[in-house]
Amino acid sequence: MKDVIIALDFANRAETFAFLDKFTEEKPFVKIGMELFYAEGPSIVREIKARGHKIFLDLKLHDIPNTVKKAMKALSSLDVDMTNLHAAGTSAMMRAALEGLTRPDGSRPLLIAVTQLTSTSQEAMERDILIEKPIDEVVMHYAETASLAGLDGVVCSPLEAGKVHGACGKTFLTVTPGVRFAEGEKGDQVRVTTPAKARELGSDYIVVGRPITAAENPAEAYRRCVREFLG
Ligand code: C5P
Repeated sequence: MKDVIIALDFANRAETFAFLDKFTEEKPFVKIGMELFYAEGPSIVREIKARGHKIFLDLKLHDIPNTVKKAMKALSSLDVDMTNLHAAGTSAMMRAALEGLTRPDGSRPLLIAVTQLTSTSQEAMERDILIEKPIDEVVMHYAETASLAGLDGVVCSPLEAGKVHGACGKTFLTVTPGVRFAEGEKGDQVRVTTPAKARELGSDYIVVGRPITAAENPAEAYRRCVREFLG
């Protein structure tokens, strides 16, 4: 199911709820990242969930399989809807994560892989982690490995969504940040697309931060995003 996910990139609970209080008519799907989670702990997840929001918990786990399995079990019991890990942890780690996430009744949150971070350049990859293949090839290989391990999708640019669906199948989810309104500020994002373009390119979920969080009327900006993305 396609949706718009708002990135709650706030430093604390007060700022987060001041923002969420502006949504009186709808309960958007939201992303909680490391900053907010580490500042406020699991209770922030429970509180936001109790308000009726779906939650993507973006903690990008990467550790030995046994540790990731146990950590995922804890996250699953928080009743999040989607969470993620680094595909670089290998397929053994990804399979362990899926086991940890699966609840006694067989249900589990969606599990999404991060491939190479968009902040990693070809040069840094070659120099620091001795990966000498072209970065696009590395990203696609990580996506295919995640798919074979049984994960539900990857975080990628909307510009890569078609390629990912081509290699991993149409039902393999593409969760895509880097979205801006046509006339909006890019901020520090380099390659951006509009919500309408992301839809055209086949994104399953768009992750939108500042175009909504920094808007004068966030609820209206969110609605515009939904209109453009879902049509
Ligand atoms: O404010 P903005 O729309 O740029 O926020 C995008 C969100 O998506 C942020 O939470 C950012 O950390 C996240 N993200 C990203 N690029 C990636 C992975 C995650 O922008 N490659």
